[in-house]
Amino acid sequence: MINDISKPLILIVEDDGIIASRIQDTLAGAGYTTTITDIGEDAIRQAQEITPGLVLMDIRLKGNMDGIEAAGHIRRQSDVPILYLTAHSDDELIQRAKQTMPHGYIVKPFRARELLITIEMTMNKYLLDRQKRDMEARIQYIQKMESLGTMAGAVAHKFNNMLMIIMGYAEMMTDDAEPESLVESRSNEILEICEKAREMTNQIIAYTGHLPAAPAMLNLNQLIQEIAPFLKISLPDGSVIHYNTDDRIAPISAVAEQIRQVIVNLVMNAIEAVKKESGVITVSTGVMELNQAFFSEVYQNDDLPEGRYVFLEVEDNGCGMDEDTKRQIFDPFFTTKFFGRGLGLSAVLGIVKSHRGGIKILSKPGEGTAVRVLLPVEQLSSRQ
Ligand SMILES: Nc1ncnc2c1ncn2[C@@H]1O[C@H](COP(=O)(O)OP(=O)(O)OP(=O)(O)O)[C@@H](O)[C@H]1O
Ligand SMILES: [Mg+2]
Repeated sequence: MINDISKPLILIVEDDGIIASRIQDTLAGAGYTTTITDIGEDAIRQAQEITPGLVLMDIRLKGNMDGIEAAGHIRRQSDVPILYLTAHSDDELIQRAKQTMPHGYIVKPFRARELLITIEMTMNKYLLDRQKRDMEARIQYIQKMESLGTMAGAVAHKFNNMLMIIMGYAEMMTDDAEPESLVESRSNEILEICEKAREMTNQIIAYTGHLPAAPAMLNLNQLIQEIAPFLKISLPDGSVIHYNTDDRIAPISAVAEQIRQVIVNLVMNAIEAVKKESGVITVSTGVMELNQAFFSEVYQNDDLPEGRYVFLEVEDNGCGMDEDTKRQIFDPFFTTKFFGRGLGLSAVLGIVKSHRGGIKILSKPGEGTAVRVLLPVEQLSSRQ
């Protein structure tokens, strides 16, 4: 159940029936929905089931559990703001109540106006605190990604150099070997494995945004057209891929090889997500104006300037993702597939960022996923 955050559903926990219904009337008059209970255990259950946006908790309750104990339980299961209803005589209890970190107190008897103002102030403070926490978590995440990127990039470059040496020796062995000998087939196998390892390290370097880049003006539709035959080969039987490209899109300044990698990675993910009969994948392009309202929704890249963007969207009706998965998909090596994978979207992110673009993802478990990559239309003057 989703509550309107500014007018939350309020759980009133009050053992005096008259006071409870007075509070309920006052709140109803101000547009709040409420529910009442007078027992601590019931309050805990309701807090879990109806997920109120605020709890008004009387300190003294009927039954075995007082309001402080009930609030302690509720606090452990969610961060819902709790306002205690207290009396002057509750001084000692209030000391105990502090440990449950309430958002405030209202001392009985109180006037309707006082109650409404306290609730409003509590909600405002709660929302501000939450925004601050979200922001801090986001900054921490960005810092983590940056340091991971630096480390991964350094390792990948060193690893690539070592691979080159291994490949060089393996090639020499192949050249020296008797045709169709055991040595020849073994050194060829070494070369094949090295090739796969090189692909992996290139994905990592793409993630760090430091692939060698030679941007040129290119047309996204044309690029899609070029790789469409290769994408078709990977499509499982019974699934289809539609193209819905917009002819009016402007050319973008981009590195063709990298944008190809973006398209392939996104379509491969979509293919792996459908993995069934009647899988439908749609690759679209278009132009859109990015404005302030859209910013909050752009998943990655906070400093995207307003303006015109060309977008590439890959949509599928596959398995979709839950919130937990969505949070981690850009972490290198995060995968729900098998060990050693999980670089596709990390590479996409690196490439998109180095093109000064952004990514937006919509996904619902069991329904499907749409990944939209935005790339700026303006000619880029400098590149990381
Ligand atoms: N279209 C999609 N539908 C459902 N889940 C997806 C989709 N795209 C990505 N995911 C989820 O995000 C995870 C990370 O994706 P990512 O492309 O980075 O790695 P991967 O596909 O697991 O491995 P690879 O390195 O081969 O790309 C996936 O394992 C999957 O759980
Ligand atoms: Mg992938």
